Amino acid sequence: MTYAAAYAAWQADPEGWWAEAAEGIAWERRWERVFDPALGTFGQWFAGARLNICANALDRHVEAGRGEQMALIWDSPMAGRIERFSYRELRNRTARVAGALAALGVCPGDRVVIYMPMVPEAVIAMLACARLGAVHSVVFGGFAAAELAKRIEDAAPRAIVSASCGLEPGRVVAYKPMLDAAIEMSAHKPESCLILQRPQVRAALTPGRDHDFDAAEAAATPHEPVPIAATDPLYVLYTSGTTGKPKGIVRDAGGYAVALHASMGMIYGLGAGDVFWTASDVGWVVGHSYIVYAPLLAGCTSVLYEGKPVGTPDAGAFWRVCAEHGVKALFTAPTALRAIKQQDPDATLLARHDLSRFEALFLAGERCDPPTAVWAAEKLRRPVVDHWWQTETGWPITAGFRGYGLFPFKPGTGGRPCPGYDLQVLDDHGAVLPHGQSGNLAIRLPLPPGCAPTLWNDAEGFHRAYLADFPGWYRTGDAGEIDADGDVSVMGRTDDIINVAGHRLSTGAMEEVLASHPDVAECAVVGVADALKGQAPLGLVVLKAGVARDPAEVERELVALVRERIGPVAAFRTAHVVPRLPKTRSGKILRASLRRLADGEDPRPPPTIDDPATLDEVARVMGRAAAPG
Ligand code: COA
Ligand code: AMP
Repeated sequence: MTYAAAYAAWQADPEGWWAEAAEGIAWERRWERVFDPALGTFGQWFAGARLNICANALDRHVEAGRGEQMALIWDSPMAGRIERFSYRELRNRTARVAGALAALGVCPGDRVVIYMPMVPEAVIAMLACARLGAVHSVVFGGFAAAELAKRIEDAAPRAIVSASCGLEPGRVVAYKPMLDAAIEMSAHKPESCLILQRPQVRAALTPGRDHDFDAAEAAATPHEPVPIAATDPLYVLYTSGTTGKPKGIVRDAGGYAVALHASMGMIYGLGAGDVFWTASDVGWVVGHSYIVYAPLLAGCTSVLYEGKPVGTPDAGAFWRVCAEHGVKALFTAPTALRAIKQQDPDATLLARHDLSRFEALFLAGERCDPPTAVWAAEKLRRPVVDHWWQTETGWPITAGFRGYGLFPFKPGTGGRPCPGYDLQVLDDHGAVLPHGQSGNLAIRLPLPPGCAPTLWNDAEGFHRAYLADFPGWYRTGDAGEIDADGDVSVMGRTDDIINVAGHRLSTGAMEEVLASHPDVAECAVVGVADALKGQAPLGLVVLKAGVARDPAEVERELVALVRERIGPVAAFRTAHVVPRLPKTRSGKILRASLRRLADGEDPRPPPTIDDPATLDEVARVMGRAAAPG
C-alpha cells in the first residue's frame, strides 16, 4: 500500500481504519465502540474493551513460541556491561516484580513513581506496573529532588521504585538521597519504596518503608496480567508546560497499544525479530513508546543504552552498538548527531564498524538543522527520517513511512501527517491557512488513539491548554508550515517551552526559580540558539533596589539555584544581571526581542516597546559577559 492510499483510507473511514489496526492487539474483551465521542474531553477510543498491554508485550510472544528470542539488550558502557533478556526471561522477571509490587499493596489503578537510571529494572518496573493494572509515572533521572517532589505530590503514588545511583560520565549520581529529599518535601508520602542497589553505590534503606529490589523480586510470587479497560490510564508522564507546574500527561492503555503497534510497521518498517534501538531515556515519552512498549508489542528486540553518544568512550559509540547488536533502525535526537559530528566530522569511527544490517535513522525531539541531517545521510548512506511528535501525542504526528516506501529526504521537514491526524496550519484566529503559509500547527479533533485524553486530575487544564484556543482543534504549541507536497516543517514552539539537547524544558519554571532568589526583583529566561544542544536557556535578572552585590556572584548563585531546584538537565549555565528588562508599555517583557538579541540578530522590538534604550542596556551587559575574562 502507498502512503497516499493509507492516508485516504483513514480519511474515508477513520473508525474502520483503527478497528483494523486494533486486530494487531490481543484483547481480553473487544470494544463496544471504536470511538465514543461522549466520553472524556473529546471522546475516547475502544470504549468497552479490556486488555493488558504487558501481556501483549511479553506473554503473547512467549505463548506464540518466541520465548527464546531476545526482547531486551542492555548495553551500558557506563557500567561496562551488556546483558541480554529473552522474551521468556523478561516476562518471568516482570511477573515477579509485579508480584513484589502487589505484595507491597499496589493495586490496579494505584500510581507507582519510577525514578531510575537506564537499567533493565526500569523497563521491568514499568512493565510490572502495567501487568498489575497500576499506573506508572516515570521521572527522568536528571531532575532534581524538588521536581521529583512535585511529581510525587501530584501523582500520589502508593509506591516508588528507584535505584541507589545513576552513572553519568565522570560522576556517580546518588539517586537515593534525592528520593529521600523529594519524599520529605512532598505532602504525599508513599507507603513503600523498592530500591535497586547498584554495585557502584549502596543506598541506606529506611526501615519499614524501603525494600531491596532484588530481595523483593526473589521472594515474590509471579503475578498474572490484570486486564484493564482500554480507556483506563496506563501511565502518567509529566512534561514541561509553560509554568513551573509540570503537566501530567495521561496515556490510556488501549488506544496506545493499537497506535504503537501500527506505527512499528507503518513508520519504522520493523516487525518481529528486528532489532530497534531508541537512544533516548525511559524518562521521556520517546523512551516509553519506542524503548519499551512499541518494540515489545511488535516482537522486536529493543536496545537499552546507558551511555552517551560521545565520550563513552568516543564518538563511535553509536556505531559500535548498532554493529554489535545488529540494529536495523536507530532513533535518536539531532543533538546526539551534532555531538558525534563535532568530534568525528569525517566519520572515521563509523568506518570501523560493520553496519551492513543497519537500514534507517530516525530523528525527533527537536528540530533537526539541515546540515546535520545531510551529514548523517552522507555518512550513513541510509534513509534519514525526521519525524515530529510530542509527549502529548505519544507517537509521531508526522513522519516518513518505511512501511509505505515513503521517506523522501527533504532536510528541514518532518515528513507527512500519519494516518489518524488531520493536521492543518491555522492563523491566530483559527482559520485554516493554505499550504506554504506558516502559522499554528493544529490537529482537528478527535486526536487519534494513543494521544493523551486528558491531564492527570486536571481535565479543565487539558481543555485550557490544548483545546480552548481553537475550538474543534488540538493546539500543538508548535509553529510550522505544510509545503505544496504536503511535507511539514516544524519551526519551533509558540509558547515558553524550549528544547535543550532534545530535553523539553519550561522557561517559566526557570523564571520561578530565579524569582525566588532574595536579591532578584524580576527576571526573564529565553532559549537562545546553541550549536550543540539546539537551544540553551539564558537568564536575565534585575536586582532589587538597594542590592549592591557583585553581579558575577549573584549570577553564580542563580546558576547553582536552577541546578539545585530543577536539575542538571536544565543545562542552565548563563545568567546576566541587567539594569532593566525591555517591556511593552503595558508591562509585558519582550522575550522574543531578548532571544533575537542573544542570537546576535536584530531584536526587532515591537512599536509598543516602552523604552528602546533598555535593549541597548541588555546588549551591553551581554557584551560584557561575552568578553574574555
Ligand atoms: N541523571 C542524572 N544527571 C543527568 C541525567 C540523568 N539521567 N541525564 C543528564 N544528566 C546531567 C548530565 O550529566 C549533565 O550534567 P553536568 O551539567 O554536570 O555536565 C546535565 O544533566 C546536562 O545533560 P545533557 O544536556 O545531556 O548534556 P551532556 O553535556 O551531558 O551531553 C549530549 C550532551 C549531546 C551528549 C547529550 O545531551 C545527548 O546525548 N543528547 C541527546 C538527548 C536525547 O537523546 N534526548 C532524548 C529525546 S528523544
Ligand atoms: P517532547 O514532548 O519532549 O517530545 O517535546 C515535544 C516538542 O519537541 C515538540 O512540541 C516540538 O517543539 C519538538 N519536536 C519534537 N520532534 C520534533 C521534530 N522532529 N522537529 C521539530 N521539533 C520537534
